[in-house]
Amino acid sequence: MKAPPLRLGVNIDHVATVRNARGGIHPDPVRAAHLAVLAGADGITAHLREDRRHIRDQDMERLKGELFVPLNFEMAATPEMIEIAMRIHPHACCLVPEKREERTTEGGLDIIGGASHLRPMIQELKDQGIRVSLFVEPEIQVMEAARELGAPVVELHTGTYCEAVAEGDEARVSHELERLRRAAAHGAGIGLEIHAGHGLALDSVRPVAAIPQIAELNIGHSLIGEAIFTGLDEAVRAMRAAMDEGRAQVAA
Ligand code: PXP
Repeated sequence: MKAPPLRLGVNIDHVATVRNARGGIHPDPVRAAHLAVLAGADGITAHLREDRRHIRDQDMERLKGELFVPLNFEMAATPEMIEIAMRIHPHACCLVPEKREERTTEGGLDIIGGASHLRPMIQELKDQGIRVSLFVEPEIQVMEAARELGAPVVELHTGTYCEAVAEGDEARVSHELERLRRAAAHGAGIGLEIHAGHGLALDSVRPVAAIPQIAELNIGHSLIGEAIFTGLDEAVRAMRAAMDEGRAQVAA
């Protein structure tokens, strides 16, 4: 199949983690966002957590006010966050679990049965023209549940795959990649836009980038970690290049 272009969303949460370690305003996550865009990020992602452990409300406001690329607001599905999202009006909202009981065993939102409370929230955001995605496990039934809830986008959780890569467990890597491929193909087949993320790094991104239905990867921790050694500009460029190499395998 012809693959759509693959977008890179850079998650700048952990710049704020370092800032908050000392209080104050340095390093500034919004400055990091501008640098990431100059280095080739197609969008910026930030997670305003209920406990504000990294990104703060004012960071979201500044990101929305200053960026010329799409802002992806990661958030828990709570009335407080919905209200903030409505006010800030980002390009997209990615609904993620923050509490143990909202997760499946592996870590995405638990949306099979019992997630009907998400439906009005998804609708409310969609009514404002905000693109809604659900951060979920790469399973076929979950793709069906996401569509049933009215979400136009899913973000496939790549955490289990990345753990397998880190452990060097080839059999598990193949198994996890197959789960991602099947979910992406099924999800795209029923009309969902497919994103992926969590834990991706230079040594794990290429096979995910090669899944043709995936339109966007959201990557944070490994990029901010690499930036300590190479600078953010170089870290984003290297990731972009690795993604392009992976995607080139689709056409090959
Ligand atoms: N996508 C979602 C939905 C996430 O919650 C996170 C982590 O905040 C990421 C992507 C990025 O993960 P990482 O920081 O491990 O690259």
